Amino acid sequence: KLPPVIAIDGPSGSGKGTIAKLLAERLNFFLLDSGALYRTAALAALDRRVDLTDEVALAQVAKELDVRFAVHDSQLQVYLEGREVTSDIRMERVSMAASRVAAIPAVRAALLQRQRDFRRLPGLVADGRDMGTTVFPDAQVKIYLTAGAEERARRRAAQLRGEGVSVSLRDLLEDIRARDALDMNREASPLAAAEDAVELDSTGVDIEAVLQRVLTLVLDRI
Ligand code: C5P
Repeated sequence: KLPPVIAIDGPSGSGKGTIAKLLAERLNFFLLDSGALYRTAALAALDRRVDLTDEVALAQVAKELDVRFAVHDSQLQVYLEGREVTSDIRMERVSMAASRVAAIPAVRAALLQRQRDFRRLPGLVADGRDMGTTVFPDAQVKIYLTAGAEERARRRAAQLRGEGVSVSLRDLLEDIRARDALDMNREASPLAAAEDAVELDSTGVDIEAVLQRVLTLVLDRI
């Protein structure tokens, strides 16, 4: 029997990353931030000046991707070819490139097994867009976390300002809407709730309350 998986999907800024991380800590499970994988692939492509419309070249970048994740002080650290890229992959230009790269079926195929390899005992919390639909369709718990676009832009602004990055809320909102559209309307594994997912809306709900809801669901099923 395969180790248990908790799949948490949703749009950017829905809080799924935070929830996934806290949940993995509580349960002592492994954590897969699949968005970080697509972001790192996008950064590798940008670094090598690969044309973002060249699907063959991008699939090759994904196949050869030398990425490593580590956890330090309960923060995820990401290494690309041995170089730390934890904050580089969060830049807006990388976010947009990630959404474009992630829309290519051959790129997704190249990264599929890598994601499944994270499934180890005692269990895995996986966050992304297609964890419950494509990567772990047999996940024991599937959660689809949403929030209104304005709220997601505000959260992202607060997060970036906390990191000392000055941003315009309007630009962020535009980026979020553009990324939502790309992620939801693509052919390959579009962002969508799995049929058997529990949908939670985190608009106006604080993170601790969302975590409690999720924990209740998880303890019920695992
Ligand atoms: O979750 P995050 O915002 O870090 O993901 C960055 C981008 O990677 C998303 O906009 C999406 O296009 C893509 N992605 C994906 N499938 C996943 C996770 C992320 O297509 N499972």
